[in-house]
Amino acid sequence: MNTLRHLARYALAAAAIGAPLAWALPAHAANGPVYQTSRHNAGTPNSDVVTKKNGQITSYGDSAITYNVPSPALAALGQALYLQNCASCHGTEANGVPAAGTTGAFPNLVGLGPATIDFWIESGRMPAADPRAVQAPRRLPRLTHDQALAIAAWINSLSPSYPAIPTVNVKSANVAQGAALFALNCAACHTIEGDGDALARSTFAPSLRNIPATQVAEAIRTGPGNMPRFTGNLSDYQVADIVKYVTTEIQHPRNPGGLGLGGLGPVAEGFVALLVGVAVLALVGFWVGERQ
Ligand code: HEC
Ligand code: HEC
Repeated sequence: MNTLRHLARYALAAAAIGAPLAWALPAHAANGPVYQTSRHNAGTPNSDVVTKKNGQITSYGDSAITYNVPSPALAALGQALYLQNCASCHGTEANGVPAAGTTGAFPNLVGLGPATIDFWIESGRMPAADPRAVQAPRRLPRLTHDQALAIAAWINSLSPSYPAIPTVNVKSANVAQGAALFALNCAACHTIEGDGDALARSTFAPSLRNIPATQVAEAIRTGPGNMPRFTGNLSDYQVADIVKYVTTEIQHPRNPGGLGLGGLGPVAEGFVALLVGVAVLALVGFWVGERQ
C-alpha cells in the first residue's frame, strides 16, 4: 500500500510540473523556423533530375515533386491574355507600372516564377476585383488552367525564373511526418485544424479546407502575400508530406482519437483534457489523503 501511495504522490508531482509545461510548449514550437523573405527567384532547379529541350530547362524535381516550366510555345497566347486581363494594373511590360501610372503602384511580376503567377490566377485572386483591398481574397478562378499556364509562360519569357509549377506525388508521401511539419511551420497562422485565423492589420491566413495539392505546394514554395515562403528549409519530400497532410487529414478529418470535440482546436481540446485530468488527480489526492 505504501508504494502505491508513493507512486500516487510522484504522479501528482509530475502532473503539477508537466501540465504547465505542456501548456507552454506549442507556443515555443511555433517560433521555430527561419524564414527567407525576398520573393524573386524562389527556389532553383537544385534537384537530381533536370530535363532540357534545346538547352532550355523544361522540368526538374525528384520523386516527391516535379516542377514543370510552362511551354514557351504558349507565350504569344499568354501575352494576348495578359494584355486583356492584367495590363491595366500591372502594366504592358508586367513591371508594375500601368499606363501613365506611378512606378511601384502595383507589384512587378517579372522574375516571380511561373508557380507564383499560376497560384494567383488559379486561386482566383487575379485579376483583382478590388485593387485597394488589403489582401486579395480567394475566389472562383476567372481564367482557365490553360490560360493561367499561357500567361505564366509569357511573363516567364521576359526573365526566366523559378519556381516552376509543381506536381506533387502525394501517394508516396508520409502523412505523419506532414502532420509534424505542419504543426511546426504552418499551424501558428492557419491553426492546427487548418481553418485559418486573423493576422495583424486586417490580413488573415485563409482556411486550407478546399485547396488543391498543386496550390498548397505553390503557396509553400512562393509565399503569397503575408505568408513566408519556404525554400531551402523544407525539402521537396517534406513539402509533399505537408501537402498530403493538408489534402487528406485536414480536408477529410477522421478524428481517430475519438470525439472531434467539434474541431475546436488544440487549446479547447487541451482544456477539456486538463479539466478531466484535474478531476482525476483530485480524486487520487482525496484517496491518498483519506488513508493517512
Ligand atoms: C485591378 C487591378 C489588377 C488586375 C487587373 C490584376 N492585378 Fe495582379 N495584383 C493587383 C494588386 C493590387 C496586387 C497586390 C494584392 C495583394 O498583395 O493582395 C496584385 C498582386 C499580384 C500578384 C502577386 C505579386 C507578388 O509580388 O506576390 C501576381 C502574381 C499578380 N497580381 C498577377 C496578376 C495577373 C497574372 C493578372 C491578370 C490575369 C493580374 N494580376 C491582374 C492588381 C491587379
Ligand atoms: C506567418 C503566417 C503564415 C504561415 C507560417 C503560413 N501561412 Fe499560409 N498563408 C498565410 C497568409 C497570410 C495567406 C494568404 C496570403 C494572401 O492571400 O495574400 C496564406 C495562404 C496560404 C494558402 C493559400 C490558401 C488560399 O486561400 O488560396 C495555402 C495553401 C497556405 N497558405 C498553406 C500554408 C502551409 C502549408 C504553411 C506551412 C508550410 C503555411 N501556409 C504557413 C499565412 C501563413
